Amino acid sequence: MSDSLAVLQKISFFQHMNDDALQSLLDVAEQVTHTSRSVIVEEDSPANGLFVLINGNAQVSKHDDAGNEVEIAILRKGDFFGEMALLDAGTRSATVTATTKCDLIKLNQDAFLQWLANADSRATLQLFAALTKRVRDTTERVLQDELNKQALESEMQIERHRALAQMVAGVAHEINTPLGIINTASNLITNRISGGEIQAIVANDRRTRRKVEDIEEAADLIQRNIERAHRLVQNFKKISVNQVTDTREPVKLVELVDDSVDLFRINARKSNLNTSIHSEVNDNAVWEGYPASMTQVIMNLLTNVERYAYTVMGGDIHIKLSESGESFTLTVQDFGAGIAPENLAQVMSPFFTTGRSKGGTGLGMAIVYNIVTDVFAGTIEIQSAVGEGTSVVINFPKQAPEKHKSIT
Ligand SMILES: Nc1ncnc2c1ncn2[C@@H]1O[C@H](COP(=O)(O)OP(=O)(O)O)[C@@H](O)[C@H]1O
Ligand SMILES: [Mg+2]
Repeated sequence: MSDSLAVLQKISFFQHMNDDALQSLLDVAEQVTHTSRSVIVEEDSPANGLFVLINGNAQVSKHDDAGNEVEIAILRKGDFFGEMALLDAGTRSATVTATTKCDLIKLNQDAFLQWLANADSRATLQLFAALTKRVRDTTERVLQDELNKQALESEMQIERHRALAQMVAGVAHEINTPLGIINTASNLITNRISGGEIQAIVANDRRTRRKVEDIEEAADLIQRNIERAHRLVQNFKKISVNQVTDTREPVKLVELVDDSVDLFRINARKSNLNTSIHSEVNDNAVWEGYPASMTQVIMNLLTNVERYAYTVMGGDIHIKLSESGESFTLTVQDFGAGIAPENLAQVMSPFFTTGRSKGGTGLGMAIVYNIVTDVFAGTIEIQSAVGEGTSVVINFPKQAPEKHKSIT
């Protein structure tokens, strides 16, 4: 049995037990022999104990999603399986088949629990320590897997935004040319209509004059809408950050945020908004970044608060700055209407707006998202509850990438 003792000692569960304790455990175990090709345990069958291979080889196999049996491991002398089944009564997660004649030690759950009841407290404690470590290792692995999955998902989300932004910018570029042509043509109409020749003709002809006035009005309408379309196209282009001509420079972050908020002052007064800045960052702290982009981000956020959070009578806007390690955090918080849960996931998608009737284009947050993730290499998170308000939290490194990824 000393061979078996050595094998048992290798099992993490029993690692710290002394020889006496292990021997007493072996005393309650059985020795079993399996002929070649016989099944030792079967997948999904009730599991009730630990097996240790003392001699011979066995194969571990499992059914995959398609129902095919796949070999996942080969067991050799000294290998063991089913140690967790000593404690819980689950089912076998795989089938183990002897590939040669196999000698095994089989420790039944009942026998083990009986042994545990009589074991001295030190052995019990050691067992629990080993078990705890095993649980902790598994938890850590699961946690790490989850973190990896989340990182992948946010990477995919950034990619999706990038692709969409690229498309929008492309469309904007294409629309620009026909827009230019329409502009020239409508200018021509306006010029010709207001020219002396036509005005002379209509001077004495009231009916024709009215028609010409209609044309003038229509041409004016076209002009104004071309301007509007032009502004939209400019916005569409901004969505793609390679349109940003900003260059990286060291700036005092607190001052930059102050100045940006200042630009909003007229709107704030008009809409009864009370903006306050709480900074935990030193006034002289430097951000190696893109000031014009930062101003744009802040303006877009504040404009949204004005437009969506406080539609009736204004309210407070808290702007917070903090730092930790290598990054800054900028939070813009309002205590207004909030965002409905079903909209929350979409607010950063281009063209998503609940304010189409108020002139919303749904581009503001998409631009903010792209600037933060691409230009600042940062992250953005929105927390919101209907009736309580919205917080946009932007975290970005103290040094932005010198050349951000361009979208071309
Ligand atoms: N502070 C806020 N409070 C409530 N809703 C907001 C806020 N900020 C953004 N939203 C919602 O997100 C949507 C998208 O915003 P945005 O991309 O800036 O587009 P737009 O301003 O053109 O509607 C808005 O239509 C609004 O529904
Ligand atoms: Mg907006």
